Amino acid sequence: MFGLQKATQLTPADDQATTLHWLAEQYAYPPRPSSPPCLPRPYVRANMVASIDGAVTVDGRSGGLGGPGDKAVFRVLRGLADVVLVGASTAVTEGYGQPSADDEFAADRAARDQMPAPALALLSRSLSVPDDFAPVAHPDTVILTCRSAPTDRRSALAGVGATLIDCGDDTVDPQAVLDVCAERGWVHVLTEGGPSLLGALAQADALDELCVTTAPVLVGGDAGRIVGHADPVAARQMRPVSIITDDDGFVFTRWARTPADEA
Ligand SMILES: NC(=O)c1ccc[n+]([C@@H]2O[C@H](COP(=O)([O-])OP(=O)(O)OC[C@H]3O[C@@H](n4cnc5c(N)ncnc54)[C@H](OP(=O)(O)O)[C@@H]3O)[C@@H](O)[C@H]2O)c1
Repeated sequence: MFGLQKATQLTPADDQATTLHWLAEQYAYPPRPSSPPCLPRPYVRANMVASIDGAVTVDGRSGGLGGPGDKAVFRVLRGLADVVLVGASTAVTEGYGQPSADDEFAADRAARDQMPAPALALLSRSLSVPDDFAPVAHPDTVILTCRSAPTDRRSALAGVGATLIDCGDDTVDPQAVLDVCAERGWVHVLTEGGPSLLGALAQADALDELCVTTAPVLVGGDAGRIVGHADPVAARQMRPVSIITDDDGFVFTRWARTPADEA
């Protein structure tokens, strides 16, 4: 009934490159079948950080929960992804820039036929993202919105060079988002949240994998949880893939969707 799942201790290697490449092996996306049937849709991985008591923010941002190991995992997961999918307000709150090419992963990405850096996909119904938010006008950024988005905001963002794609009528439909990703060849999807976006993906049963960093801290208060959705999400069984710890007490867990026939 019980089994001992051993945690792997991440000890900083003499050179950071060794640590990063070791992590990249641990977090490699599952291989896609090379012959039909192909995966029906992209593989969606989420990466989130929370305190021991489940808080996703300290003083309104996730930065207070991070540490060097968490930053390394964050960097590695971007190094493996085709696209970073994030709620527009999270991108603004957390001060996102355009994901840049990481020299450490350049050769691996080229070998996998990936672009040098992941694209950025910002989700928004309201299109309230500021016009001067730097990633908006970048050619590798798309804003995934819906047909009911305010026309003035739509024109303003288009005017500064944003690429807007409608993915639904009144809300951004996760399945339509995955269709856009598939059309663009973004099969390795990484979402960095926030909680509302994860809630929408979980509600649509579109999450294949959840990487959770547990920061060794209790924060109390009323901060939200990783998956935020007004309605309860149908319980989705997941299985632990790996548990890694680091010298600072952070725990990095990787959970994968349980195949339907095992759920
Ligand atoms: N601990 C972590 O790992 C972590 C990660 C990310 C964020 N955070 C924190 O979480 C907080 C934000 O939480 P949140 O739940 O508001 O973030 P969120 O999931 O990013 O949701 C808000 C943003 O995403 C858009 N959005 C989300 N789901 C959507 C959907 N289905 N359709 C259309 N747009 C959608 C919203 O657009 P509109 O408002 O335009 O509709 C809004 O811009 C911040 O304090 C941030 O720092 C923590």
